[in-house]
Amino acid sequence: MGIPTTPFPTLQEARATLAAARQEHLLAFWPQLSEAERETLLAEIGRIDFDLINRLLRDELIWDASRLPYDRLEPPEIWRLGRDGPCITRADARAKGEAMLRAGKVACLVAAGGQGTRLGFPGPKGTLPVGPVSGKSLFEIHCAKVRALERKFGAAVPLLVMTSEANDEDTRRHFELNADWGLGEVRFVTQESLPSVDFQGRIFLAEKHRIARSPNGHGGMISALEESGLLDELLDRGLTTLFYFQVDNPLVKIAEPFFLGAHEGTGAEYSLKVLRKRAPDEKLGVVARADGTYLVIEYSDLPEILRDARDARGEFLYWAGSPAIHVFSLRFLARLNDDDHPIRYHRAFKKVPHVDTTTGAYVTPAEPNGIKFEAFIFDTVPYARRVLVVEGVREEEFAPVKSRTGEDSLESAQRMMASLHWRWLAARGAAWPREPDGLAARPAEIHPTFALDPEDLPADVAARIPAEGPVYLE
Ligand code: UTP
Repeated sequence: MGIPTTPFPTLQEARATLAAARQEHLLAFWPQLSEAERETLLAEIGRIDFDLINRLLRDELIWDASRLPYDRLEPPEIWRLGRDGPCITRADARAKGEAMLRAGKVACLVAAGGQGTRLGFPGPKGTLPVGPVSGKSLFEIHCAKVRALERKFGAAVPLLVMTSEANDEDTRRHFELNADWGLGEVRFVTQESLPSVDFQGRIFLAEKHRIARSPNGHGGMISALEESGLLDELLDRGLTTLFYFQVDNPLVKIAEPFFLGAHEGTGAEYSLKVLRKRAPDEKLGVVARADGTYLVIEYSDLPEILRDARDARGEFLYWAGSPAIHVFSLRFLARLNDDDHPIRYHRAFKKVPHVDTTTGAYVTPAEPNGIKFEAFIFDTVPYARRVLVVEGVREEEFAPVKSRTGEDSLESAQRMMASLHWRWLAARGAAWPREPDGLAARPAEIHPTFALDPEDLPADVAARIPAEGPVYLE
């Protein structure tokens, strides 16, 4: 879609619109602005969907956690590790997924439109150097996996990169400078952004002539795919399935054949990977169901009594956390765009830097001072006619990079990457230097085009490992 083109209201039109929406303060600095700044501001006002903003401010399209069916909630059916599925074996699912890839039925989408505020990296999160030895970026590692799939299955796997207006240009440049890492087809799709508001519903100015806007959440993918025409194009080309993942997980098994085949083989419209939560209070949404309808409940919306509830064997009932690894049927995504499937927005209470419209001072708040509106992709789970939930292994597929250090950080992700690769090497006879916590004591990294899975490793790989120093196999 690219950045949406902007209707350009006159000053009088803008004044009238703002008065009707009670947002007149957005013109507070008009007399001080240059001609160019005035044009920018009018264009920015012109692209605000005031109807949507007013509905959000009236709570009409807001996700309401109090309406969740807590009293009827139960754990979902889960295809457990090492078991066969409801109507297809593990081996058949994998074979089916491989056939889908060979037939060119699958595209992948990486959600990379977020602001990455916790990480504080100056650039799109996907350009963060993450390879524990190579320093390769998140995008490069993801693309290398897709490239490896294309080689293995001899067919194109289109990669859709979802950006937002704040990082679209830099993201495209990163891909361009690297010639898309040799991928057959990379497409960019830019999600919408929405104005951020203060607690009274007044839209913030980021600068005297610019509206403060933020991406509309990963759920923005639904309309972005439709409005860009990409969804129809993929369907017209005969593709059937979309593998969805998020840019900040370097361990994700992109378009894993077993998961794709499990989705297709069970006739699911929406399939979710789940992992055992580290602890009930880990900040991961859980998958549940009520009256047969599946849903994902955000960690903050799950009351403690349910969060800590256990079954007769002492197992947590809601142990299945969602790492945001999904498979969608393209037809389901197309259906979500009709009027029967409204998208709800969550209010995220955030620190929004802005210009104070009474004093003109630039404010960098220390505490949350405003609201960003975000749609979540997993809120569409209840709309799917059939949902499949598949258990995965955290150590093999989930190492989110949310901050620099600590839990779910660049540091922990790099240690998990090294440990996973040592585990693969150990299975081929190498000695795995482990620390007491089980993580790797010595950095190791296997580039996805060298081996996408442990079974791709050459039998004699242990002999290629140097006696000391970092290990890098490319
Ligand atoms: P997070 O909610 O963790 O946000 O997004 P973030 O931008 O990475 O980091 P913070 O919260 O600002 O620190 C999870 C994934 O969803 C994508 C992000 O790019 C990340 O891959 N995402 C999030 C989008 O693609 N669009 C959005 O509007 C929000």
